[in-house]
Amino acid sequence: MTTAEQFVRWACRLGPVPGVAGIRLHLADDVLGLWQRTEDAFGEGRQPPFWAFAWPGGQVLARYVLGHAGAVAGRSVLDVGSGSGLVAIAAAKAGAATVTASEVDALAAAAIVLNAQANGVPPPALVGDVLDGDGAGADVVLAGDVCYARPLAARVLPFLERAAARGASVLVGDIGRAFLPRGRFGVLDARDIPVMAELEDSGVKRAMVWAPVPEAPCWVHE
Ligand SMILES: C[S@@+](CC[C@H](N)C(=O)[O-])C[C@H]1O[C@@H](n2cnc3c(N)ncnc32)[C@H](O)[C@@H]1O
Repeated sequence: MTTAEQFVRWACRLGPVPGVAGIRLHLADDVLGLWQRTEDAFGEGRQPPFWAFAWPGGQVLARYVLGHAGAVAGRSVLDVGSGSGLVAIAAAKAGAATVTASEVDALAAAAIVLNAQANGVPPPALVGDVLDGDGAGADVVLAGDVCYARPLAARVLPFLERAAARGASVLVGDIGRAFLPRGRFGVLDARDIPVMAELEDSGVKRAMVWAPVPEAPCWVHE
């Protein structure tokens, strides 16, 4: 039987992340083909292999964290919807005291561990769905590209609000997808990020780092 770790190694190639210097991930380049292979190996009804791709929200957020290490250094960090682990790995590289990755996909969990090892950082603590809570224990809550579907956004946004209300610093990476309520966030940073045209509708996307409005006093453009 193929293990999740063997499958990630078999299905992906370790390589650089477009737009995020200094981090390498196990990545695939054929979304639908990999989704089919995932179902062949582990059974039907699996969610798409989000973990095998870097998403623009995660790319811009990882880049921001690496460039603003003070946002996470010495602090406990929770990465929600971690996928490949890109944002969690960036937090570890930026000096977070502890990093926890929240994921619901067992293949993603395997990818997160492999990707952390490939980048020379300790694998983050892995937890499942924490969205009914407030991220207790985390000084910083990071969320890269988790507003891609209405049901998930409907749980993530109240979760982020609860985390912010208890004093956590909340940062969201997102291209401004339909389910992100822009009026409740301000933009801390914005970058043109190379993305897979197969996943998005073009090869480059403007991606932003968002924070709850009181923490986002200005726009930063490059
Ligand atoms: C679009 S991917 C983004 C991955 C990564 N943050 C990035 O930006 O590259 C969203 C991820 O959220 C995960 N996810 C979905 N529902 C979740 C939940 N309730 N709790 C934790 N993770 C969840 C999915 O499995 C998927 O890996």
